[in-house]
Amino acid sequence: MGDKQHLVPADRLQRAVERVVRGFGSAPQEVTTVAANLVEANLTGHDSHGIGMLPRYVDAWREGGLQPNTHVKLLADAGTLLRLDGQAGFGQVIGREAMALGIERARAAGSCIVALGNAHHLGRIGAWAEQCADSGLVSVHFVNVISRPIVAPHGGADARFGTNPFCAGVPLAGRAPVILDFATSVIAQGKTRVAHNKGEPVAPGCLLDDQGRPTTEPRYTVVPPWGALLAFGGHKGYGLALLCELLGGALAAGRTLHDADDGRRRVLNGMLSVLIDPAALGDAAAFEAQARAFIDWVQESPPREGVGAVQVAGDAERATRAQRRRDGVPVDPTTWREILEAAATLQVDPATVNADAGLA
Ligand SMILES: NC(=O)c1ccc[n+]([C@@H]2O[C@H](COP(=O)([O-])OP(=O)(O)OC[C@H]3O[C@@H](n4cnc5c(N)ncnc54)[C@H](O)[C@@H]3O)[C@@H](O)[C@H]2O)c1
Repeated sequence: MGDKQHLVPADRLQRAVERVVRGFGSAPQEVTTVAANLVEANLTGHDSHGIGMLPRYVDAWREGGLQPNTHVKLLADAGTLLRLDGQAGFGQVIGREAMALGIERARAAGSCIVALGNAHHLGRIGAWAEQCADSGLVSVHFVNVISRPIVAPHGGADARFGTNPFCAGVPLAGRAPVILDFATSVIAQGKTRVAHNKGEPVAPGCLLDDQGRPTTEPRYTVVPPWGALLAFGGHKGYGLALLCELLGGALAAGRTLHDADDGRRRVLNGMLSVLIDPAALGDAAAFEAQARAFIDWVQESPPREGVGAVQVAGDAERATRAQRRRDGVPVDPTTWREILEAAATLQVDPATVNADAGLA
């Protein structure tokens, strides 16, 4: 197949990924949910949180750190305050179930706080804000990551926490929702791996080496000795990452990162989500009108030279989704090879996965 990028139609990719996920022994509903979530991450342009995660999931499962066919468990129910345990189940399933519970409560009572711990990798957090927005709800999500520390605190020389994503969704009348969804590191770890594989440097201001010195050499987050990524926006992004650990970790999950790498391959997420029904605040019409007026006003700003149009959060993902649905999902040959190897580990014949994807 050479080293050219594959372009795979989304439905064929879905079929191929479903075949791989079946190898975990997942029930049919889980197979569909996990595959759809991963393919959707690729469709929105966030390849680092899409199908390329499968080999890592296989490693985690083999170590017993990922538990297929596991559902969210209710630990405490205070009506509009739910404490949930993900029991190391697929985050794609656990996240959806946790939000469904929160949505039900928020629609009935006006708001709900969902504290979720011990979910295996929740993937693209924007998926959860989209689920809430689809039900007309505003949502805010603070997430921590239990894995090898890879981001340094502001002023610190080594890594102390993960890429702790922050996300919020705001439904808008007559327009697609605002979905703000980003890691609090200046660049995603996946991007340093891509640069390392290509033998290219990363931009200045992203990385520290193993001595805590600024570097553009991506190897320091890819192979030991480990360096660290920096948080975006200096002390401000660092502060947000800190909050993600305190709220998503300590408060919601009852677990923060405070030790060195134990070498395990599983990735656990804690997430504190706040869901609000704008209608329950009393003046849904004012909210809708004021939110729309502001977004329109912002987008009327004349674009700077070289910029097509002023966008708002969520637009980029929607544009990429439309383009990739039309033209196919790009999958680099290294990622595809790793997925086929992961399939073989699961006793799934790589030739059938290739055939599903139309790559045979
Ligand atoms: N589960 C986990 O442990 C974990 C950890 C870290 C990151 N993540 C996920 O990784 C993904 C990628 O994160 P990232 O930091 O690389 O994202 P990013 O840097 O691509 O930023 C994405 C956000 O910026 C907005 N955006 C992009 N271009 C814009 C423009 N021109 N104008 C206005 N807004 C614009 C997007 O709509 C989106 O809200 C996210 O989905 C995140 O949830 C997950």
